[in-house]
Amino acid sequence: MELINNASLKSFVTFGVEASCDHLYRIEDIEELKLAAQFLENPLILGGGSNVLPIGDIGRNVLRIELKGIEIEEEEANDPLVHIGAGEIWHQFVLWALDRNLGGVENLSLIPGTIGASPIQNIGAYGVEIESVFHSLEAVKLGTGEIRRFSKEECRFGYRDSIFKQEAKGQYIITGVTLRLTREHKVNTSYGAIQDVLNQRGILDPTIQDVSNAVIHIRQSKLPDPAVIGNAGSFFKNPIIPKNQYDTLKEMFTDMPGFPSEDLTVKVPAGWLIEHAGWKGKAIGHAGCYEKQALVLVNLGGATGTEIWNLAEEIIKTVGEKFEIRLSPEVNIWK
Ligand code: EPU
Repeated sequence: MELINNASLKSFVTFGVEASCDHLYRIEDIEELKLAAQFLENPLILGGGSNVLPIGDIGRNVLRIELKGIEIEEEEANDPLVHIGAGEIWHQFVLWALDRNLGGVENLSLIPGTIGASPIQNIGAYGVEIESVFHSLEAVKLGTGEIRRFSKEECRFGYRDSIFKQEAKGQYIITGVTLRLTREHKVNTSYGAIQDVLNQRGILDPTIQDVSNAVIHIRQSKLPDPAVIGNAGSFFKNPIIPKNQYDTLKEMFTDMPGFPSEDLTVKVPAGWLIEHAGWKGKAIGHAGCYEKQALVLVNLGGATGTEIWNLAEEIIKTVGEKFEIRLSPEVNIWK
C-alpha cells in the first residue's frame, strides 16, 4: 500500500481538474483493503477516475483500488466464468477477452474506467449493458472489512443503476467481478451506428472483433479522448419521462427522439435536449459542452471542478426551463 499525504487528484481523474485530498491510499492487496475498510472513516473510492468530478479540496481519505488479476474458470467450457480484479482497466479486459475469442463484452469496447466501477452504474453502450454478462461480484464492507458476495439479482441492475448507487451506496468496496463470457458468439448489431459501420466496411457476417472495431471507430469519432481533452464521458443520464409528457413535448418538438419502454415511460437522449437548449459547442470559462456530443462536458484546459459544475448547473437550468425535464448527473460529484 502506498500512502500519499495531501495528494493531488488531477492525474487520477480523467476530467484533469486540480483537486486534492488529505490522504490517498493506493491499494494492491486484498488484506490491506480489508484493514483500510475497517479503520478509515468514510473513505471515497477511486477506480479509473473516469466517472468522478472532484470539486475543490476534499478533506477525506481516498482509496484507489488497484487489485489486479484475470482468471478463467472452466477453461474448456463454452460459456466460461471469468474473474477479474477490481483494479483492472475495463478496456484491457475487453482486449483480453477478444484475444481468447470470448464474446459478450465486445459492444462495451473502449469504455473508460476499471472493472470495479463497471457494475456500480451498470455500464452500457451500443445495445449492451454489463448486466447481460454479469454473474456475481465480491465486495468488502466498510466498517467491518468483511467480504460479501453479491449475485446478479442482489445487484438490482437498472439503467445506469445498481444497489451500489441506492441502498448500498457508500457501504462496500468492490474487489472483483465475475462475468460469464461465451465462445458461441451472438453478435449484437441492433444499434444502428454499428450496422452502418459494418455496411461501409462490407462486413456481412461480423465477428466479435469486427463489432469491437466498429464500436471503437464510433466512440473515437464522437467522444473526446480524456488523454487529450479532460472529460468523464456522458455527464448526464438520459432522462426517463412519462409517456404522456413525451407525447405533449413531441407535438411542440416534432423531431425529439425518444425510446419507449413497456412501463409507459420514454427515455429521451439528454444530448438532444442539451443541443436544442443551445449548449452544444458552447463554453463558460474553461468548461465546455463538447462540439460533437452535447452529453459530454469537457475541460478546455485548466478548468476547475467548480467551473465544470457551474456549466452543468446552467445546462440543467435551461433544459428544465425549455422542456420541463430535470437532468441528473451520471458522473459522481465529490465535494
Ligand atoms: N443527440 C443529439 N445531439 C447530441 C448528442 C446526441 O441530438 O449532441 C441525440 C441523437 O438523436 C442521437 C441520440 O441523441 O441519435 C443518442 O445519442 P448517442 O447514440 O450518442 O447515445 P447517447 O444517448 O448520447 C448513450 C450512453 C453512452 C453510450 C451511447 C452509445 C448514457 C448516459 N450514455 O449516449 O455512454 O456510449 O449511448 O450506446 O446512457 C457514458 O456513459 O459515458 C457513455 C458515453
